[in-house]
Amino acid sequence: MSAVVTAGGAWLVTGGAGFIGGNFVRRLSRETTAPIVVLDALTYAGNASSIADVLARPHVALVKAALLDALFARHDFTRVVHLAAESHVDRSIVGPQPFLRTNVDGTFQLLEAARRHWTTPNGPLAGRRLLHVSTDEVFGDLAPNAPPFTEASPYAPSSPYAASKASADLLVRAWHRTYGVPVLISNCSNNYGPWQFPEKLIPLTILNALEGRELPVYGDGRQRRDWLHVEDHCAALLAIVERGRVGETYVVGGGDERENIDVVRAVCRAVDEACGGGRAAEGGESAARIRHVADRAGHDRRYAIDATKIRRELGWAPRHSIDEALPALVRWYVEHRDWCDAVRSGEYRRFYDEYYAARLGGNVTAPGRSPAPR
Ligand code: NAD
Ligand code: DAU
Repeated sequence: MSAVVTAGGAWLVTGGAGFIGGNFVRRLSRETTAPIVVLDALTYAGNASSIADVLARPHVALVKAALLDALFARHDFTRVVHLAAESHVDRSIVGPQPFLRTNVDGTFQLLEAARRHWTTPNGPLAGRRLLHVSTDEVFGDLAPNAPPFTEASPYAPSSPYAASKASADLLVRAWHRTYGVPVLISNCSNNYGPWQFPEKLIPLTILNALEGRELPVYGDGRQRRDWLHVEDHCAALLAIVERGRVGETYVVGGGDERENIDVVRAVCRAVDEACGGGRAAEGGESAARIRHVADRAGHDRRYAIDATKIRRELGWAPRHSIDEALPALVRWYVEHRDWCDAVRSGEYRRFYDEYYAARLGGNVTAPGRSPAPR
């Protein structure tokens, strides 16, 4: 058992069947024997199968729908890690309402439960901490030569998703200041790693390349993102919730800033290498299938993070880089094709058809319908 986790009471992890939440509870369940309650609505993006190994452990339970008050009353939560969200920017542009409901109202409901169960007229109960997991997108578009985001960067969200996360962040800050709810906030950059839903750039490109489909790149592909391996993010979240200062914000990023087109080309190389000699017979290298398509509305050109505070205060540092991690990640998606097929449900395929059809000129083969060329 590691010394990373010091809390003795129960944990509540919202969104724990999603990409980051699943990786987080997998790690947490190894670090502590304290009860862990995973609260997840199991939307298209949340899958119990992603954490089947974690749920097999006796101290971990999945709750799909529950009243927060009942959960707080039943378990003596000392840690809450709030990851539940609608997380995909493109979906927020097509239909923003679920983002307001889950990201804003859902956070409000959680804060209210924490207020009711964790605070008294004499102040907050000792030893409780709620970590609200947020995004660097709340800071908006970073100018090409501007210094990276810090905890002091002003909020300027561009997309409905970013605006909903920014709204949630502001509620969290207000519930701390007004009611004394013991919160911490993290604002992290783009994650990649195993179990990421294949709507996001890296897994979408891996699977489309493996399955011989076109690789959509928005606009000129020169937008920049600061990439962080999900394991590094989970280590940061544990450090913040256990050792961060209550009421503080920590920005988290890998310092691995890349243009999207470079990321897509690196994925193509990794997929072609994984496919070995067979790739040539399938119609050429993956990069030949890159298609520059209509840009995302309101697309932020650049995000970048200055993680000095978390490095200095909590001794956190990323261990992975995208170049080192991509070959293993491609292998992971090759070895988890059943999971990929299962999670790309009819609902997801409809979104893919509708969203990419116009962009790819109607020339779309929806995922999961065509046999893999390998
Ligand atoms: P994800 O979409 O993979 O997972 C979200 C999870 O939340 C899913 O399991 C889903 O079922 C669940 N969920 C959705 N609505 C819910 C509701 N109303 N009640 C309970 N559960 C609900 O997202 P992710 O990429 O794992 O992101 C997790 C969190 O981290 C989000 O808050 C996101 O804003 C934040 N974040 C993500 C990244 C990234 O690069 N993926 C970077 C920084 C911050
Ligand atoms: O910065 C943190 C954020 O990173 C998180 O808060 C979000 O939850 C997460 O989804 C991610 O947001 P992005 O919009 O940056 O991720 P996405 O993978 O959707 O896109 C990454 C970049 O690639 C972005 O500039 C858009 C571009 N892109 C994306 C897709 C899906 C393409 O060019 N083509 C695509 O098909």
